[in-house]
Amino acid sequence: MPRFILCGSATPVYDFKESRMKSPDFTKPRQEILGADGSPSGAARNAGAGGLPSSPPNLSTPSLRVPILDLSREYHAIGPMLLRAVEAVFLSQNFIMGAQVTEFEHAAAKKCGVAHAIGCSSGTDALWLALAGAGIGPGDAVITSTFSFFATVSAILRAGAKPVLADIDPETFNLDPAAAKSCLESAAGPAVRAILPVHLYGQPADWDCFAVLKQEHNLVLIEDAAQAFGACWDGRKAGALGDAAAFSFYPTKNLSAGGDAGMLTATAETIAQRARILRVHGMRRRYEHEEVGWNCRMDTLQAAVLLVKLGFIDDWNAQRRVLAENYRLLFEQAGLMEPGPYPQHGVVLPKTRSKATHVFHQYVIRARRRDQLKNFLRDRGVGSEVYYPLALHQQPALRSLGYPAGAFPESERAAAEVLALPIFPQLTFQEQEIVVAAVADFFS
Ligand SMILES: Cc1ncc(COP(=O)(O)O)c(C=O)c1O
Repeated sequence: MPRFILCGSATPVYDFKESRMKSPDFTKPRQEILGADGSPSGAARNAGAGGLPSSPPNLSTPSLRVPILDLSREYHAIGPMLLRAVEAVFLSQNFIMGAQVTEFEHAAAKKCGVAHAIGCSSGTDALWLALAGAGIGPGDAVITSTFSFFATVSAILRAGAKPVLADIDPETFNLDPAAAKSCLESAAGPAVRAILPVHLYGQPADWDCFAVLKQEHNLVLIEDAAQAFGACWDGRKAGALGDAAAFSFYPTKNLSAGGDAGMLTATAETIAQRARILRVHGMRRRYEHEEVGWNCRMDTLQAAVLLVKLGFIDDWNAQRRVLAENYRLLFEQAGLMEPGPYPQHGVVLPKTRSKATHVFHQYVIRARRRDQLKNFLRDRGVGSEVYYPLALHQQPALRSLGYPAGAFPESERAAAEVLALPIFPQLTFQEQEIVVAAVADFFS
């Protein structure tokens, strides 16, 4: 039985012969570990024995040569472990908040270097629990980035507070500390109780600056770490930087469940305690409700899946960084790299701050004629995606916040220029070459 290795990386692989996980063999030439066509699927086809179907379920768009994400490769690397973990839940019949939830919370807290981790139903709920757990509510204002996923702001509204939007740093796409400072000095300032920076695309926001603002203005700091499990700022993990943090384990995230799931972390005991009871309808003792919470419980199945994947996340994140560096080399060789922050003719690559350890949940370039480039890549069989085509103040549902067009020029410009290219731990170097060659052809 041939060994199943997805790519020449530090990513552990499942050895079907020996029925256990192994480190990849770096002594083999790449042609041997990849399929004859250089794609991992060639090798994956041989991985049928060992309890998995003979061909991987194709979760990617079949016509694409290089999908933006192909979760079937991950499944084929660790499928038997996942299936065993799932089976254990069915055997226990303890489907909601079972033992694996507590086990995952302990393991994730240790991984993040934080005192408290609380599993819940989604990243959106984790944001709400973090805000509500910190006592943010009606009459309070929360400063956050206008360039993020919708949940960052909807969670603030759900907590009953007022979002105060601010612009981003054009190099990192993260909340600009100077813009947050201006909000604190504006008319909205006195009501601000918290800042909610987003670690967008997997790079922590500039935490040194936010820590200073916290001290100066006596604020609560909450991280939207939905895209950043395992990322660090100055050696400290996302989740342990603020008073509380929210993670998403949505299936496309760098640490992903087999459905919706999330987690909040808290450094403060008071926030953790309150969030724990809000998660279960404000109930500490069975059927005695101390306050009105919500159903934000975590499925045991999701915790079981996450426990398996937690064992691989460091290697997977490291492999994402290897792939990001390889993109940089390829774009440099193609003569396409521009210094930025804005593209003139070619592309601007993502910038990582010196204190940040990026996990490249997404690899996002800036490009002129972005939409045409996206269509061109699609026609060449290369997946790409726009996160996000509208800034939050441009969203129809948030018009009532009252921000006019042009209010946040950096975010509006980013929304018109960003393009996420394929990145996931099992992506091959050959596939990256196809991506960069297609981008080069577009600009030639
Ligand atoms: C930045 C950000 N915040 C919050 C969320 C919400 O997470 P979930 O989809 O798990 O509710 C996401 C998920 O896409 C996100 O990317």
